[in-house]
Parts: sequence; structure tokens; C-alpha cells
Amino acid sequence: MKLIFLGPPGAGKGTLAVRAVDVVKVPHISTGNIFRAAIAARSELGLKVKAIIDAGKLVDDETTIALVRERLAQDDAENGYILDGFPRTIPQAEALAGFSAVDKVVNFDLPDAVVLERLGGRRTCRNCGANFHILFGKPKQDGVCDSCGGELYIRDDDREQAIAKRLEVYREQTAPLIDYYRKKGLLVDVDAGPAPDAVLENFRKSLKL
Ligand code: AP5
Ligand code: MG
Repeated sequence: MKLIFLGPPGAGKGTLAVRAVDVVKVPHISTGNIFRAAIAARSELGLKVKAIIDAGKLVDDETTIALVRERLAQDDAENGYILDGFPRTIPQAEALAGFSAVDKVVNFDLPDAVVLERLGGRRTCRNCGANFHILFGKPKQDGVCDSCGGELYIRDDDREQAIAKRLEVYREQTAPLIDYYRKKGLLVDVDAGPAPDAVLENFRKSLKL
């Protein structure tokens, strides 16, 4: 199954994707995670995108499309994938259509106030990228990742100014994809408001899984 997870920053795309891979048995491919890993490794790509991401802006389409195209060509994505955070612009969606036919686009439905609450309390593992929340998804031990024991930190783009920029960028460049995919008959709305287990249930019901 080839799925896209679409929604504002902080909606819970990454959190649901980690749970959904057990249901759909396809890899979770997050462009944000790929970029953050490149930044941590100080690779050429990482050095190129760090300032852009920290400021809450989008990496250019050409770089991002090439990255996803290469990732989807790997063996594990042959039978499907969950694309989390891509496409984020109409040109990215058009490019994707040229090299892969998606089955469904899951649209995360969530009021702005909840998005802000989720981003404001997020803690991310520096080592494996797992997400926690100071109120809604506490790690067993403060500041330590449950999965790998890595250090939890606040993403640079989870600072107030970058959050405001990301929401603005989302409204201007990414939200038009909702209508784009609805018109193609691919969009499925999922209520992303409740706790993670209930969101997984909403996802299963919406996709009849
Ligand atoms: P990316 O990493 O994709 O960031 P994003 O879209 O801003 O999304 P987030 O990761 O912030 O949110 P999420 O929806 O995954 O929420 P999460 O599950 O963590 O991209 C980062 C940057 O990379 C971009 O700004 C851009 O610069 C660049 N980039 C990436 N893709 C690109 C592209 N295609 N083109 C160009 N540039 C690109 O949850 C958030 C918090 O809420 C967590 O603390 C979590 O524990 C909590 N939470 C989650 N679900 C629930 C729930 N159900 N109830 C309570 N709490 C919950
Ligand atoms: Mg994410």
C-alpha cells in the first residue's frame, strides 16, 4: 500500500506512522527524519539544509524530489510506503505522480490550538528520532529515549518563531494539496485529535484495514 500522510506540522504524522507500519507492513519514509539525520551526520546535504529547516522554511523542490525518488527506488519500498512530510508543494506532488502511483492520502484533521500544544511540548531523540511529549507521551525516564536510551532534545524548529513560520508555510504551500488530492478521489480524512491509540483506530477504520 502506498500512502501519503498529509497535515500541519505537529499533527502527529510521525507518531501515527511509527504505529501504522505494523498494520500496513511498509516502510515509514519521513523527509524530515532524513534531513535531520543528514544534519546530524554533517553531510553535504545536511550542511545545505540546516539553516533552512531551523528557520521553518521548505527545502527546495529539486533537492527534495531527488531524495524521495532515490529512496522509493530502494528494495524495501517496492510494495509500498508511508510517505510522511512529502509531498509538501504542488510541484512535489506532480513530480511524485511521475514516478509512483499512490493509493491513498491520509489527511490529518486537527485544530491549530492542538497543533501548537503538541509542538510546544515535543521532545525528540537525538539518536533514533523517536518523538515524545512532556504531557501526552512522557518517556519513562525524563530526557531519555524509551526505544534506544538516546538523549531527548527540543528541535530547533520547535522554537516559537520557527513554529509560526512552519504554520504559515503549511497554509500557503502545503494545504492546497488537500483539494488537489480530494479532486483526484484519493483523500481520506482522519480525526487526529484523540490520543495516539485512538488515532490509529481512526486510521484503520478510515482505510478499512
Ligand atoms: P518534518 O519533520 O516533516 O516536520 P513537520 O511537518 O513540521 O512535522 P512534525 O515532524 O513537526 O510533526 P508530526 O506531524 O510528525 O508530529 P509528531 O508525530 O512529531 O519536516 C521538518 C522540516 O524539514 C520542514 O520544516 C522542512 O524544512 C523540511 N522538509 C521536510 N519535508 C520536506 C519537503 N517535502 N519539502 C521541503 N522541505 C521539507 O507529533 C508532534 C508532538 O505531538 C509529539 O510530541 C508527539 O508526542 C505528540 N503527539 C502526536 N500524536 C499525538 C496524539 N494523538 N495525542 C497527543 N499527543 C500527540
Ligand atoms: Mg514528523
